[in-house]
Amino acid sequence: MTTPVLPAQAAGAPAQASATPLVSVEGLRMYFEITSGVLLSRHVGDIRAVDGIDLSIEKGETVGLVGESGCGKSTVGRTILRLYRPTAGRVVFDGQDITYAEGSTLRAVRRRMQMIFQDPYASLNPRMTAAGIVSEPMEIHNFASGRERRERVRDLLATVGLDPDYGDRYPHEFSGGQRQRIGVARALALHPDLIVADEPISALDVSIQAQIINLLERLQGEFGLTYLFIAHDLSVVRHISDRIAVMYLGKIVELTGSRALYERPLHPYSVALLSAVPIPDPAVEGRRRRIILTGDVPSPSNPPNGCRFHTRCWLRERLGNPDRCVAEEPVLREMTAGHAVACHFAEEVDGTAEQVQVTGRPGSGTPRAAAGPTPAAAGSMAGEAAGFPAAAPAAPASPEGDRPRLRKRS
Ligand SMILES: Nc1ncnc2c1ncn2[C@@H]1O[C@H](COP(=O)(O)OP(=O)(O)OP(=O)(O)O)[C@@H](O)[C@H]1O
Ligand code: SF4
Ligand SMILES: [Mg+2]
Repeated sequence: MTTPVLPAQAAGAPAQASATPLVSVEGLRMYFEITSGVLLSRHVGDIRAVDGIDLSIEKGETVGLVGESGCGKSTVGRTILRLYRPTAGRVVFDGQDITYAEGSTLRAVRRRMQMIFQDPYASLNPRMTAAGIVSEPMEIHNFASGRERRERVRDLLATVGLDPDYGDRYPHEFSGGQRQRIGVARALALHPDLIVADEPISALDVSIQAQIINLLERLQGEFGLTYLFIAHDLSVVRHISDRIAVMYLGKIVELTGSRALYERPLHPYSVALLSAVPIPDPAVEGRRRRIILTGDVPSPSNPPNGCRFHTRCWLRERLGNPDRCVAEEPVLREMTAGHAVACHFAEEVDGTAEQVQVTGRPGSGTPRAAAGPTPAAAGSMAGEAAGFPAAAPAAPASPEGDRPRLRKRS
């Protein structure tokens, strides 16, 4: 089922966002065929990597895309970049429907969209120099030539914080952080509008991660870039994202401003993901307990009926396993302006001990949905709900408050 694309502005997109989003996907599906047989291959099923998502990204905005391994994050990014031909739905880039674009039309759009990959070791050709890697997209797209191109490569290396004289070195001569800077310089080579950063810091040492995040933020301000920032860890996307989309098994289950997600997560899965993010206050952190989701992640080739999260949902158990979770697929519905959640019982999440403790809010009283836990529900948690700091009034979702900072724009 296709839900309306939420207006980014309400959830904290940049104030200068225009009426036309840079990227908009509607009802996007990307299935990979499963075949069997050696001589005669038969289509026996599909991996439903992305199964009907709606998302728009405003110009200059950063949207974080978060979820467990295999939930379809990279496939969303690659399908937006049209590295895949979608199974269904629409991809619109800067007002142009590119769902089935091909040939020169696709090439022209691709120039405006680039990707930064997770692994700076595997994504750079070891036989090419840094300068060759950065200039390759310019060669492919006939962008600048000769001395102009060489100057641009030097400028790009300097822009990402590398010595331009290192252009004749090979990837193995650089550290992991420096290699990722080469990947960033390559992504910038064609003056793109959109960058899909697919877990760009996951393979880097913690000490280097902040440098790359700061670099990406600075470049966004300098060049007016728009980012889709993919991560499996909510702690990574917190500071860079204006809005965050949480994915589970091919679907977006929660979409809201960054601050609203951390202060008032309303999907049980988002609450579980947030419980893994440390809070930098030892007193608060000492009270928090991680929510361990029970059960295996279901296969995307055979997703559960109804709500896909129902096989692992702590809230469903808490509520006495209502049939509706199995019988009816929840749609992404707007709870407050710009805050959409795909859960039949999202209202029940608000004020639970689990929500309160993962956000680190102080409080007292008996949490609503925690009032009568079933034995099964108790077993689904790493710690008992009893004794957790109880509910405080939920922070209002403020469109202004969702933007932690104003970025410099050129
Ligand atoms: N080219 C492909 N052919 C077949 N199946 C694929 C292909 N690409 C991805 N998949 C499958 O689609 C599902 C989603 O994969 P995807 O790489 O998008 O997940 P992800 O959220 O990016 O995971 P990770 O965090 O591990 O990178 C997985 O089950 C994966 O095995
Ligand atoms: S719809 Fe039911 S199973 Fe799905 S997240 Fe909500 S409570 Fe859990
Ligand atoms: Mg991935």
